[in-house]
Order: sequence, then C-alpha cells, then structure tokens
Amino acid sequence: MLRTFEINNRRYLGNKFKLLPFIRRIVDKECDNVTSVLDAFSGTGSVSFAFLDKQLLVNDMMYCNYLAALCWFSPQVVNRKSLEELLEYYNKIDTSKEDNYMYQTFRDTYFSANVCRRIGYIREDVERKFTAGELNERERAAVITSLIYAMDRISNTYGHYDSYIQHAIYNNNFELRQPKLDYNLNHENHCFNMDANLLASEVTCDLAYLDPPYNSRNYCDAYHLLENVARWEQPEVVGVARKMDRSAMKSEYCKVTANESLEDLVDKLRCRYILLSYNNNGQKLQIRSNAKISDNEIMRILGKRGEVRVFTHDFKPFSAGRGENVGNQERLFLCVVQR
Ligand SMILES: C[S@@+](CC[C@H](N)C(=O)[O-])C[C@H]1O[C@@H](n2cnc3c(N)ncnc32)[C@H](O)[C@@H]1O
Repeated sequence: MLRTFEINNRRYLGNKFKLLPFIRRIVDKECDNVTSVLDAFSGTGSVSFAFLDKQLLVNDMMYCNYLAALCWFSPQVVNRKSLEELLEYYNKIDTSKEDNYMYQTFRDTYFSANVCRRIGYIREDVERKFTAGELNERERAAVITSLIYAMDRISNTYGHYDSYIQHAIYNNNFELRQPKLDYNLNHENHCFNMDANLLASEVTCDLAYLDPPYNSRNYCDAYHLLENVARWEQPEVVGVARKMDRSAMKSEYCKVTANESLEDLVDKLRCRYILLSYNNNGQKLQIRSNAKISDNEIMRILGKRGEVRVFTHDFKPFSAGRGENVGNQERLFLCVVQR
C-alpha cells in the first residue's frame, strides 16, 4: 500500500508552515472580502495551502517549486489510480544496473550510488511518459514532486545542498509516496514560474502575499540539486558541492539592492491588500544571514501605497544547527492599498 505525503513534509528554508494560523488569522480579521490570493514567492506552497478556499495565483522563480505548485494547486484533473500505480512501479522496479546522469554526477555524495541510479531512472522515465502523452502536466508535476520529497527524506545533508556529510552512512530507504490531494481546488487557480516583479503587472488579486528571501542566501544555491533534477537539463556541475551554473537563477532579493526590487514590486502590484513577511534585523553570527531591507525602508515602500500595520510572532525558523537565530522574530506588514 502506497504511503501518502503532505505539503509540509519537507524541509525548506523560511517555509511558513508553522506560521499559517497567524497569517490566516490576520487576513481573516483585518482584510475584507478576500476571494483571490497571490502567493508571489510560494516556495513549498504552504501559505497557498492555507487559502485553498480562495482563487490562488501561485508563483516561484524556481522550477522545482513551480512543479510543486502545479501538483498541489493546479485545477487539472489527475488520474489518481494510475498515478498510484506508476509510483508503486517506480518503487519496485530493479534499477541496480542503470547508468544515467544522476549516477554519473552525484553517486556517493548526497545519495548512495544505488539511490542515484533510481532517481535518474525515474526522472528520465517521467519525461519519456510525458512526451508520449501518458502523463498530463499536473501528473508529471506530481511524480517529480513525489521524487523531490523522497529525496529530501533521505538526503545525506543538513537539509540543503551547500555540502553533503562526508563519510556518511547512506540512508537507502528511498520511497516514492502519493501526494495527498483530497481537497477541493478553485478552478481559476493558476501557477507561474516567473520573477515576481515581472508577474506583478500581469495579474490582479485581492491580497498579495510576499515572502521574499530576506538575506544573501540564494535558494538556487541551497537547493541546486533539487532544481537540477526538476529541470533535468543534465548540466555540468563544479566543485565539491557539485553545483550547476546558477548565474541566471540568482534572486534580486538577495542583493544589497533588494530594497529597490521590493519597491518596484510593491509599486506594480494590483491588489487591495499587500501582506509582507520579513524576518527581523537582529545581527546574526553569519553576515549572509543579516536581513537586506531595514524596517524603515519597508515602512516607506509600503507606505507609498497605503496605511501599514505590523503584526509580530516569535518564531524559530529552520537552522542548519549553527545557532544563528537568536532572538528571531517573524513579522507581517499589512498594507491596506489606497493609492
Ligand atoms: C522565504 S521563501 C518562501 C517560503 C514559502 N512562503 C513557504 O512557506 O514555503 C522565498 C522564495 O522566493 C523565491 N524567489 C526568490 N526571488 C524570487 C523572485 N524574484 N521572484 C519569484 N520568486 C522568488 C525563492 O525561490 C524561494 O522559494
């Protein structure tokens, strides 16, 4: 019997799963008549998941997150029986002789050689089935999302792929599970894979939820391997961490000019409310962990569009165990758009 997984069953820097009751409470109490929500930096999609009763516009610039968004939120019909059978088949098939990109490039690093053989086989086969018309777009996304969650459960890392643990005993319990999709979706949901600043002027919504990266740590660096498997362009990789070229994937929100990007985005948004999550500014041990945009700048940028209020919640986010999160506080900035 195939096991299931839920949206929050993965590790992801800055994911807001634990904050959902707080976020939802603010929206329900402070915002009138919200029927559509833009989750412009969706990551895992956990915030969108808290608004399943609305029309969802879900966006992330990383392709692996876009596939996850399609899996969880696309209104396209999934044949659950055949999806289950396919995942079971992938769990049982003998891949011990497979030679593929994943095996050649990543064996005995983040995963054992045998698990790499299996990941590479599955990813290649999904593409073949999709091209042959045996899977629709959401079914393809569901299998790849299942693959990514399976990888996350056993990867030889501390949760991200900046490095792998040397001389590790590999976990070989690789197991695809079925995404739990037993909820109703709005038929007008849309998923996007764009820079949020480009998307902003193309959509309208009642509430725009913004959860950009807040420090210099790029998600394409931390999750390069998941992005690599999702895209499956089989690029060359370099260095001990075996990262592909990510120069076209870097986020403007991780640069010193992040404030200019936020201002550009906020100026363009066509919505009645803007809700921004931004971690506090406490000085951390690691410089790259320091927030890029000051509170004064945030208040100035949002204040151009309307009245702003701040709601706070003490929150211990994901940490690689280096004690960088002392006194961390998660804040929500709510702007009631007037101009
Ligand atoms: C803090 S995480 C979001 C976490 C998400 N709310 C969750 O609960 O999982 C920030 C996300 O923004 C994405 N991102 C960074 N810059 C972006 C941009 N310019 N446009 C769209 N997405 C971007 C990253 O890929 C990352 O997934």
